Amino acid sequence: MKRVIILAALAALAGSSAGLAQEVSVERGRLVSITSGCHDCHTAGYNESGGKIDPEAALKGVPLGWQGPWGTTYAVNLRDEIKDMDEDGFVEFAKTFDAKPPMPFYNVHAMPESDLRSLYQYIKSLGEPGDPMPEALPPGEAPKTPYIVMAPPMMPN
Ligand code: HEC
Repeated sequence: MKRVIILAALAALAGSSAGLAQEVSVERGRLVSITSGCHDCHTAGYNESGGKIDPEAALKGVPLGWQGPWGTTYAVNLRDEIKDMDEDGFVEFAKTFDAKPPMPFYNVHAMPESDLRSLYQYIKSLGEPGDPMPEALPPGEAPKTPYIVMAPPMMPN
């Protein structure tokens, strides 16, 4: 009898820790945004400060162009991007959207739904959406902002 009780208690414990991994919360969303690298490109000053998140700038985009054969892209303002989406709409979008380099959209597709919900709640918690970043430009059009050229180095023959 004792053994049955202990086993039941252990099963309940295992269940609750598995439950933790599925937790949906702003705090979980914050962690996911950090470990998935979203701030690396979408938060101004994040890399330069060694990983400090300025609450004013968090996920508001960076007006630095990324130029390559696809033209010039800008890491968008994620607060602005999702401001008219509800949580279910965001999950649907996050599972299916496509984007130009260097946006690793396939990493977002692979996130568990609970993490996408947490990410949504975290982005919503950051406050006023702010302004959109510059529009992406087609190849051959000159950017009006600073930009990084992503091209293979010229190799000597
Ligand atoms: C290496 C830099 C980089 C990283 C890391 C990155 N992004 Fe992006 N992201 C971009 C750029 C650049 C664009 C604009 C792409 C375009 O114009 O097609 C973008 C666009 C987006 C868009 C808009 C797509 C659309 O169709 O409007 C979303 C949403 C997004 N990123 C979410 C995220 C999330 C969530 C993370 C973290 C998991 C993340 N990004 C990590 C650079 C990055």
